[in-house]
Formats: sequence, C-alpha cells, structure tokens
Amino acid sequence: MSILEKHGAIERNLSLLFVFSLIVVLIGGLIEIVPLFYLKNTIEKVEGMRPYTPLELAGRNIYVREGCYTCHSQMIRPFRDEVERYGHYSLAAESMYDHPFQWGSKRTGPDLARVGGRYSDDWHVDHLKNPQSVVPESIMPSYSFLAATKLNTSDIKDHLKANRLVGVPYSDDMIDNAVADMQAQADPDSDDVDAMQSRYANAASRYFDGNKAELTEMDALVAYMQMLGTLVDFSLYNAEDNLR
Ligand code: HEC
Repeated sequence: MSILEKHGAIERNLSLLFVFSLIVVLIGGLIEIVPLFYLKNTIEKVEGMRPYTPLELAGRNIYVREGCYTCHSQMIRPFRDEVERYGHYSLAAESMYDHPFQWGSKRTGPDLARVGGRYSDDWHVDHLKNPQSVVPESIMPSYSFLAATKLNTSDIKDHLKANRLVGVPYSDDMIDNAVADMQAQADPDSDDVDAMQSRYANAASRYFDGNKAELTEMDALVAYMQMLGTLVDFSLYNAEDNLR
C-alpha cells in the first residue's frame, strides 16, 4: 500500500481523521505555547519608564472615576494616519504600570496617549472647566467641579500599595512619602520638590490648576494629562520602520 493510499484510509474514517487532526493541532499548539512559560517577561523594556508619581496616580484615578475612557483611548496603533496625528505608536512597555490599562478604540474624542506637553496647564484647566470655551464645536462635558474639589490625600498610600501588589515597583520610601510627594509636586515652592524628583525622575512640579492656595482634583488630573506619553524619548525610535 502506497503512503497515499494509507492516507486515504484516514480520510475516509471520520474518527481516525479527528484523532490525527487533534494530534497535529496539539503539536503545533505546544510549540507555540510552551516557550512562553520559560520567558520571564513578554514586554520589551524601554528607557525612561517609571511608576506614576502619587499626584499623577491620583489624577489617573479621577480619570477612571469620571469615565474619561468612555470617549478617549490611550493607544496609538501602528497605522500611518494615527502616527501622523498623535505621534509614535504606543509601545507595550508604556502601559506596563497601568492598572487598569486605558487601551481601546472608542474615540469620541482624540486619543490621549501622547497629549502631555501639547497644551499649557491653563489650556487644560479652561478646557476641563468649559470645553467649548477653547474648542467651540466640542461635545465634551464640563468638569468644572474638579477645580473646587479638594484632593483626598488620605488613601494615596493604599493606592501605591495596591499597585505594588500587582507588580508596580513602588519602594517603601515612595510609599512612606506618598503624601509629601503629592503636595510637593503641586507646590514648586516647597522644600520637598528635590526629594520628590529623586524618587520620580523628570516629574514636573507646578501649580497645575493655577491656584496656589489649595491642592485640588484639578491639580491631579492636569498633572496626569501633562505626563502622558512624555516618559520615553522617541527621538531614539523610528516609527516609519514598523508602519502598516
Ligand atoms: C462625551 C465624550 C467625552 C468625555 C466623557 C470626555 N471627553 Fe475629552 N474630548 C471629547 C471630545 C469630542 C474632544 C475633542 C474636542 C475638544 O478638544 O474638546 C475632547 C478633547 C479632549 C482633550 C484634548 C485632546 C487633544 O489632543 O486635543 C483632552 C485633554 C481631554 N478631552 C480630556 C478629557 C478628560 C480628562 C476627560 C474626563 C475628565 C474627558 N476628556 C472626558 C469628548 C469627551
């Protein structure tokens, strides 16, 4: 019996065909999946990534609480139109400290992955208070209450601890000084700014909401907006190489 005739026997017997198909799929599956168990990490490290400062993390929590993600994504896909509009496509490492991540394709408003530094703090404050004052055709709702709401500092340590539990490398030092770091970042005249920046490289310290008297939720949200996409130096990468 030639090999082709033997194969014909399998093709005519449904149970036999099923069993052999399963074996073939299993071998293929094992070859693809088993190596993943031996990889320490599937994310390529990139220079410049650091955990969020306590103020940025608080801003991020407000972003999630207010449901900004229902209109905005934070994921630039490797397509020419997106890269030309928003900048270098997002790298996996850029969201490795995000719990929960803010990817998505629902874009009632623009993607925000690289909005940091694109506008002034004042612009963000005006825009969040009354979006139509700066973009007349905007359909974004007003969040003016953020400027009048004091930022809750009492639970920020717990937020850092919870993030450490899921793998964000917050040190004991960072957790112990979370409240002080939060205040120093929104108060450039404070003596604690240097200590804060020694824990969080390149963290800006400004009166983000323009109000020196009080630490508000607006401070936190603007601090978060202004750091998005600014940690990695993309002059070292060439987005054109991987465009579809
Ligand atoms: C109902 C949908 C909607 C929600 C909810 C929403 N936005 Fe927007 N957002 C928009 C639209 C539409 C635009 C584009 C027009 C404009 O600039 O206002 C926009 C623009 C922006 C921009 C400017 C982006 C750019 O590149 O020009 C920022 C920053 C922003 N939103 C932040 C936020 C934040 C922070 C929240 C949550 C507190 C939020 N948005 C909630 C719809 C929304």
